[in-house]
Amino acid sequence: MRNYQIFIFVSSLLLLCGCDLEPQKSLKKIKIGLSIPTQREERWVRDLEQLRKEAAALGVEMLVQISDNDAARQLAQCENLLAQNITVLIVAPHDAAAASAIVEKAALQGVKVISYDRLILNADVDLYVSFDNVKVGEIQGRYITRMVPKGNYVVLSGAPTDNNAALFRQGAMNILQPLADRGDIRIVMDQPVKDWQPIEAMKLMENALTANNGNIQAVLAPNDGTAGGAIQALALYKLAGRVPVTGQDAEAAAAKRIMDGTQTMTVFKDTRQLAAAAFGAAMSFAAGGRAPVNTTVPNGKKDVPSLLLEPVAIDRNNIGKILVQGGYLPREEVYGR
Ligand code: GAL
Repeated sequence: MRNYQIFIFVSSLLLLCGCDLEPQKSLKKIKIGLSIPTQREERWVRDLEQLRKEAAALGVEMLVQISDNDAARQLAQCENLLAQNITVLIVAPHDAAAASAIVEKAALQGVKVISYDRLILNADVDLYVSFDNVKVGEIQGRYITRMVPKGNYVVLSGAPTDNNAALFRQGAMNILQPLADRGDIRIVMDQPVKDWQPIEAMKLMENALTANNGNIQAVLAPNDGTAGGAIQALALYKLAGRVPVTGQDAEAAAAKRIMDGTQTMTVFKDTRQLAAAAFGAAMSFAAGGRAPVNTTVPNGKKDVPSLLLEPVAIDRNNIGKILVQGGYLPREEVYGR
């Protein structure tokens, strides 16, 4: 058990037995609000599933809203959650800056806000639970530059509204920039992907291929969705499997592509750990306690107390051990049949 798991376990026990309220009663009184940006990506489907499991295991009521990549809708949905007397609000923001209004509304009601996976900017967020996102980008950058130390690179980054996208890019460029400065690699395209949409990534990749007559040796794709889009464009040029492409999220489709050889790697961020950490923290807050943290991350307003978990590089060499044996993806989803 890791430190934060022990802490969460202990604080859950305290919650169950230590409060002055009768245990069953105290749990029944807790209502957690959850606002998720999308269900279009497998990754977010898993987050929701895991958080639901956490809530069900403790018999705690959790009210869920999905904003479908719409900041105004997310604010309205969170206002609706706050109107239902939630104890703690867990928010994965669609728009990092716009979501500060959610935190302000919650503060007016004394409801603590946990920024889930994505950091809310310029707001008095109580806790940020995520992964080391700069490291995610560094893992991608390191992996692809080892495979392709020289050549033409396409660098895609995530949605400009998502603070994670900036962190992933920062990490990737920590590795790529020195090689570009030396002239070893040439970044022929450097573009964000609106709302992380695979179709947008595909269009950008097609443009890059056309503009460079197919002369591209590497693609830094920030997540599996955008990697999938880029690979579709590469396939049109008969280059799928011949140009290394990074990814992130360990989605089933990406795992298959890794085994087929069209995607080179992915970065695994265990959503089971993330959900457990966030839900445990919510329970601690609900009991008037504190949540475990291992760092702080500035968000423009304050240094937000943060718990950042470790991302892991996955390729065809360790996919079986980590994703299949680790129970994250069923064997048939990775290997087929
Ligand atoms: C990021 C998240 C990634 C990826 C992306 C698109 O914020 O950290 O795992 O899924 O959003 O939803």
